[in-house]
Amino acid sequence: MNSQQIKDNVQEYYGAIAVNGGSCCEPAGCCEPAGQSAQVTLFASPADTAIAEADLGLSCGSPTQVAAIRPGDTVLDLGSGAGVDVFRAAQATGPTGRVIGVDMTPAMIERARGNAVNGGFANVEFRLGEIEAMPVDDVSVDVVLSNCVINLAPDKQRVFGEIRRVLKPGGRFAISDIVTDGDVPQAVREDATAWAGCLGGALDREAYLEIIRAAGLVVDEVQAAPWGDEDRTAGYRFVSATLVGRRP
Ligand SMILES: C[S@@+](CC[C@H](N)C(=O)[O-])C[C@H]1O[C@@H](n2cnc3c(N)ncnc32)[C@H](O)[C@@H]1O
Repeated sequence: MNSQQIKDNVQEYYGAIAVNGGSCCEPAGCCEPAGQSAQVTLFASPADTAIAEADLGLSCGSPTQVAAIRPGDTVLDLGSGAGVDVFRAAQATGPTGRVIGVDMTPAMIERARGNAVNGGFANVEFRLGEIEAMPVDDVSVDVVLSNCVINLAPDKQRVFGEIRRVLKPGGRFAISDIVTDGDVPQAVREDATAWAGCLGGALDREAYLEIIRAAGLVVDEVQAAPWGDEDRTAGYRFVSATLVGRRP
């Protein structure tokens, strides 16, 4: 698969999820373990209901919780899906801040915009675009978030170069993603469904950290936990990692 074929397949895969509302758990993929998605509760506010609606079970961590978002911050969420982290960030930055979500799948952008209206979120905006060439101004963002997306990008160097470009000096990032301990076999890399399901494009965690550093960013903290069923005979394993860092 070349880069364009990977992107076309990823877009088709998430476009179908955006329209059908389903989860990508079959046959495998970017899904939270059962029971971790937000639930709609009785007497929930419109905002909380919209957050629950926006949680399609496609995440692999909680970057918003560790991002230390301050009131008034400009926040950017890469691969914003139906908007779940955008809305959480909007609650943290408050009415004096704003949150921009970028996603390359038109149906996801449409769904996120609908959720924003339903939840009454006035300080959020969803832009159609690729995270390898973000439709965002240079040096304009205080906090970059991303949840289970960068593994899907064929050119991760470009993504982290873009993160550095848009962050203000001293700006922070909090990224949850799937990485590996050990290299994924070529057969998995070339499996379109495995790639769209967040496994085929996952990099070894040391290689991933090296790409971030090479982009001129600093990693301050890494939290990691095993992801999915571990096959001890395979010679590699998937890991859910949440990384916190900054542009110096
Ligand atoms: C696994 S979902 C995660 C969505 C969301 N972050 C969440 O936690 O619910 C991946 C999302 O990233 C988007 N995406 C994948 N590759 C992208 C790229 N190169 N540029 C922009 N968006 C991308 C997909 O369209 C999809 O909405």
